[in-house]
Amino acid sequence: MSEQDDGRSGHARGVTRRQTLGIGGALGLTAATGLATAAALARRPSFTGDELRSAVPLPPAFQVPLPIPAVLAPVSTAGSANRYEITQREATVEILPGVRTPMWTYGGTFPGPTIESRRGRPITVRHRNELPVPTVVHLHGGRTPASADGYPTDLVLPEGWPDATRTGQGGHSMGTRDMSGRGMGAHGRDAMHDPRAVVTGPTRGYTFPLNQRATLLWYHDHRMDFTAPAIWRGLAGLHIVRDDTEDALGLPAGRHELPLMIADRAFAADGSLDYPSLDPTLRNRPGVREPYLAGVLGDVILVNGAPWPVHEVEAARYRLRILNASNARHYELEVLTDDGRRIDLVQIGADQGLLAAPVTHRLLPMAPAERYDVIIDFAGVPVGARVRVVNRLGSGRTRDVMAFRVARKVTDRSRIPRVLSRDLPTWRRSDATRVREISFRAGRMHGGHGWLIDGKPFDPARSDVTVRFGDVEVWRLIADVHHPVHLHLVGFHVLARGGGRPLRHDAGLKDTISLRPGESAEIITRFDGYRGRYLFHCHNAEHEDMGMMANLEIV
Ligand code: C2O
Ligand code: CU
Ligand code: CU
Repeated sequence: MSEQDDGRSGHARGVTRRQTLGIGGALGLTAATGLATAAALARRPSFTGDELRSAVPLPPAFQVPLPIPAVLAPVSTAGSANRYEITQREATVEILPGVRTPMWTYGGTFPGPTIESRRGRPITVRHRNELPVPTVVHLHGGRTPASADGYPTDLVLPEGWPDATRTGQGGHSMGTRDMSGRGMGAHGRDAMHDPRAVVTGPTRGYTFPLNQRATLLWYHDHRMDFTAPAIWRGLAGLHIVRDDTEDALGLPAGRHELPLMIADRAFAADGSLDYPSLDPTLRNRPGVREPYLAGVLGDVILVNGAPWPVHEVEAARYRLRILNASNARHYELEVLTDDGRRIDLVQIGADQGLLAAPVTHRLLPMAPAERYDVIIDFAGVPVGARVRVVNRLGSGRTRDVMAFRVARKVTDRSRIPRVLSRDLPTWRRSDATRVREISFRAGRMHGGHGWLIDGKPFDPARSDVTVRFGDVEVWRLIADVHHPVHLHLVGFHVLARGGGRPLRHDAGLKDTISLRPGESAEIITRFDGYRGRYLFHCHNAEHEDMGMMANLEIV
């Protein structure tokens, strides 16, 4: 990382326009790598991947009812932590009506069960891996000690995994053993060795203190080199942290609060999920086939695991807790009545909880892994009318997302307070002890195409960024094409984009920022909570698997 240490006494330098990178500059660098993919991306900077075509007939839009993932019941609420159990296993799920789709699941469903927790009340989730490959669980957006954060080499091995020394819960350092039991991978030999890995199996308990703002989190697989196909196959679920302050606000609740996990997928002729893995067993060789190096897109839009669903609503305010769980697809959501009237999306929260005050959007962009907490009001929609949620970045069938059908009038006692939260951090540029500049660009990796951070592919054994516990830092992130950049452990504020002001949807505390082509953006955060080894990475899941991840050590 290039660091600009301003000295202990001084303040972080401000950004000037001169220091920000123009589109020409960033794309020029991409094209200069001479890679077909990078060149293609430079020509189509809004492009975030290649779309697979399903080989089964697809259902009409707005017919399948919207499923709401079941809330997982704890196995115990005694003692200092609520305890949960989840078995990771193969299951055949009906995603498209009448089509049987084998998936990798948390507990037999896609999405996995939702965990609902209370701020400050720890939980322990005991995962049992009955899948044919090692797994890693990460709670995205969680303020979690490093040992439970799901570092990509902290594997949970299935029973009978070759050469595995299973050690049960206690953990076992793998030394310099091959981390995934695989042959030569795209990362080459070096990255396969991680002396700090803690490998367990087939069960492992993850304890989450949840000492953090109330918000929508999600849990998903995070195994080194294979995160993208594992999430695609179904290893993703929601986690909602609640607290008393938020409960007291009078926001729409109960049946007027809907979690919406949006994800695209494609289906092969036999009903299975299509994905262009080089090694479909996901055991040995990581990576995807050539046209999909920039990202894998599906031609079916799922919400909570149902294709283009429809949900019956009352003519009232609804709180939609939206997650873009797609590997690479971006959305720009717009809510329209069938007669062409646009309904506002009133944003009340970001990745890391409530905003200070609501922000009204007509269009809401969402990059992979981002969450938006929005309220839409159906009060003005006539009973019987339909409201569609569309993605303005999609085309043909991928333009539709889901629909609501207004079924009846009700008295709506919910409200949207003008002040939503008073506990947001107030970091200022002058609090920062350091400004780092970090680039996210295409490049060469082990003789092939890779996605690099500061010119390097991920290596668990290398130390990339080391920050002092408690320090406030400004990071200037520079992108060639779209890169949704995510930091583990901390939430941040967006300070600037392209040397100018942040965008409207950058409001609040975030853990993922959508960098646009050729853009540089500045974020500010305080590195506190826990010490240890964390990560930051691109959350285009294919980029993440192809190198775009780095270590963040808090000391
Ligand atoms: Cu959602 Cu490191 O991940
Ligand atoms: Cu994360
Ligand atoms: Cu990326």
